[in-house]
Order: sequence, then C-alpha cells, then structure tokens
Amino acid sequence: MAEPFRARLPIPEELTGARLSIPVREAEVPIMPGAPTRMWTYGGTFPGPTVRRPAGRRTEVTFHHELPRSVGELTVHLHGGHNRSQFDGQPGGLTPAHARSFFCDVPRGLSARQSGNDLLLEPGGKRTYVYDLMEDGRPERAAFQWYHDHRLDHTSRNVWHGLAGMWIVEDELEGSLPLPRGERDIPLMIADRSFDRHNQLTDPFTNRRPPNDGINARDVLVNGAYMPYHRVTAQRYRFRILNVSQFRPYNLYLSNGAPMVQIGTESGLMPRPVGRRELMLGPAERAEVVVDFAGAGGEMVELRSGPRHGARNPLGTRPYIGALMQFRVGARRLPDRTRLPRQLRPLPAWTQHVSDKPKQSWEISIGGLFKTTWLINGKTFNPARADAHPKLGTTETWEIVNRTDVAHMMHIHATDWYLLSRNGKPPPAWEDCLKETFFVYPRERLLLAGRFSDYTGKFVIHCHMLDHEDHGLMTQFEVTKP
Ligand code: C2O
Ligand code: CU
Repeated sequence: MAEPFRARLPIPEELTGARLSIPVREAEVPIMPGAPTRMWTYGGTFPGPTVRRPAGRRTEVTFHHELPRSVGELTVHLHGGHNRSQFDGQPGGLTPAHARSFFCDVPRGLSARQSGNDLLLEPGGKRTYVYDLMEDGRPERAAFQWYHDHRLDHTSRNVWHGLAGMWIVEDELEGSLPLPRGERDIPLMIADRSFDRHNQLTDPFTNRRPPNDGINARDVLVNGAYMPYHRVTAQRYRFRILNVSQFRPYNLYLSNGAPMVQIGTESGLMPRPVGRRELMLGPAERAEVVVDFAGAGGEMVELRSGPRHGARNPLGTRPYIGALMQFRVGARRLPDRTRLPRQLRPLPAWTQHVSDKPKQSWEISIGGLFKTTWLINGKTFNPARADAHPKLGTTETWEIVNRTDVAHMMHIHATDWYLLSRNGKPPPAWEDCLKETFFVYPRERLLLAGRFSDYTGKFVIHCHMLDHEDHGLMTQFEVTKP
C-alpha cells in the first residue's frame, strides 16, 4: 500500500487559446510511487490539460489520434457543453475495427451517416471540434465541464485508461462576483483505478454483465495522484469537484467538520449558496464549493468520503469510505477580500413556466433475449434510431423512471435541466437548480424540464455509470426544426 499524503496535488496545465491542438497518445504517467503507469492520454498527462475559455468565444480543438490502431476509433464529448450534434462526440456504430456489439443492437450495414461513423476519430487521423460556447443566442453560462471519450461499447475502457480532462467556461456575471480565484480556484478530478504490482492499470472489463457490471477500483486518485496533499493559506478557496469514476459515488466531507458551501453544479452557479455537511457526488456529477480555512490555520484538513447519514444505500449509491486528499493550512492569518454573495445566478426565465405533465418518458429496465442488458423503454442503443423528437425552441418536461434494483446516473446531452420532483416531492435545495446528471434511485421517478435551443440533430441520453452506458443503457433524441 502506498502511503497517504506523500504526493503533491497535480494541477493540470491550462490551455486558454481559441485554436487548440491536443494529441491523444500513450504516455508514461507518474501516478503511484515507483514505476510510471502507461496510459492513454489527452496531451500526455492524466488528467489531460484543463481548457479555460470565456463564454461566447468560439473554440476549436483538433484532436490527433496517435494511440495504437488496436484501440480503434475514438470520439470526444465535451460533457456539459451545449454544442452542435456533429461535434457532440457521437458514439458511432460498427466498423471493420469494431465489427460487433455484444450488448447493443446495432444493425449491420448502416451507412456512415446513419451510424455516425462519419464523425469518428480514426487511428492515425485528426478531427476538429468546434464549440461556440453559446446558448439560446447568448454566451453560455459559466460552468465546470469536462471532456472524455464516448465511443460505442468502449467508453468505460477508454476513460479508464485515461481519456478525460477538465474544461472551465468563464463569464462576466461570475467574474463580477467576489469569489476566490487564481490559485484559490482549484479543479479536483476524482477517479478510482486499480493497479497491478508493476503499477499498470488492471483490466476489469471481462465477464461483467448487468446488473453486476459496475466497477469499483481499489485506489482513489485526485488529479491523477494517489491521496495527494495541497498547501493552502488560511483563506477562502473555491474547489470545483468532478467525479469521473466508472461507478463509484463519493459522499464528501471535511475532517474538521467545516461546512462546504456549494455554489455550483454541473450547470454552473446555483441561484444561491447552499451549506453542506456532506455532499454526495455520483459519476459525472460536479459540485463547486467554497471552503473557508480561516479557522483552521496550521491544521491538516482531509477531504474524505464516508457513509451517508439517514440514507438507503442500494447498489450504485454506496460511497467510498476513506480519505481522498489532505489540505495543509498555513498558520499565518491573512486578510481575505473574497465573500460569499447571497445571490449567485438566477434561474433562466423558462424554468418559471414549465408543464408538470411529461411529454416523454424514459424507463430503465433490465432484460434481453440471450443475455442481460440494460434497456431504455425496452431497447438498447442503436445509433440510427432516435426515440424522441423535441422541437427546436421549445421547453419539454420529461420523466425518468427506474424499474431496476440498481441506482443509475442519468445524463442528458445538449442542454441543462430543471428538476421538478423526485417521486412527486420537490427536490432538496442543492438540486433545486439546473443540472445535467442525476441520480435515479431504484423505483424512483424524476420529473425534469429542459429547453432545446440553437441546434437540431441527434443527442444521446444515457447512464453515466460507464459500464451501464456501454451495456445498453443509452438512447437518443433528435431535436427537429419547428
Ligand atoms: Cu460524460 Cu454522454 O457523457
Ligand atoms: Cu446505470
């Protein structure tokens, strides 16, 4: 076992330009003490570089596929972005390199267009993704997003090997708030991984079938380091926390009992801050919190994950138990000009007149003729099929119903959602805002409203427990012209 709190917290390199080029390549990444780990990376590091861009400024990223041919085609999804369908990281279909799907009913003989194969990133090739960072005709809301691979059947494997990086969109409203910034604004990517005795990633993907296909790995990494430490001053900090684990949630708290004040979700700033003693974060969820170390001068404070108080814990909701990292707080008292504003970002106007009658229902179940697969409305993923056709410029209410005994983490591409209720009850304060990834407990029914703006085309909806996604728990909707 490696010793905790020996490694410094890595802060990934930031890219800020309008035209970026990111090689997707193998690299020897120092992760555990001793030998480096051979990984598939964006730009040679894990996590990949953090892109930081102003809202409303077009950003073009060219990814160069330099991984071995055997990895097959790739596709990049900017998770949380509001982007054109063709730049949204479509999973694609079958190809000569990937001739059959074990869990999804992908028809053979689809054209490149029908399957989305025309949008894939071929081995040895490159592809430029264009992101306008606009929404509803205006600059997108500032938010903590991330990018990762999204290939049919192989998303879990590709992300496990390292294909994930963070992406921060900034805007004027956020910039005008007195929140901590610069060195006191720190993105934290949490990922669990298992290593063999040569420090190489294990291969946990064979012989896994729904409902037992969730991968819990042994070691937890923060920004690619095993239980790192970070020196902080006795002041306020902003932490942007992202869970990229395949399956595992974290129920976060601070070892000194200090509150974390949540200011943001996947969809950026909330209407107002919400104090949290513990904060549950499932795969792909993000929480932005402000922590004040002023009362902890000279102390060591651990960011930990522990059992939840007064909660059911069905499969898929059992948090990791243990420390994730340590903050070493400087002893010096320092003035702090940051503040926690009482109001952050108001909800968009459309959230005020939404229907509570769902126009579309998504039912999660488990089944399959010859083997078990995850299903949405009785079907697995087929890139040529769309199961809903919302009209551009409209707002719709959808319901998500979980008919399985496992919790799922539903993520909807293209837009952000306003959660109306869980089993008929209004959501807690930290979910009474925009989000795009949601826990759905066994037998639970979620009602949410979203607005389809700017772009027509196909977008996926899926479980972000990555093996569930690969094993059928994904489908599509197609935004159509009014
Ligand atoms: Cu983070 Cu469809 O994915
Ligand atoms: Cu799931």
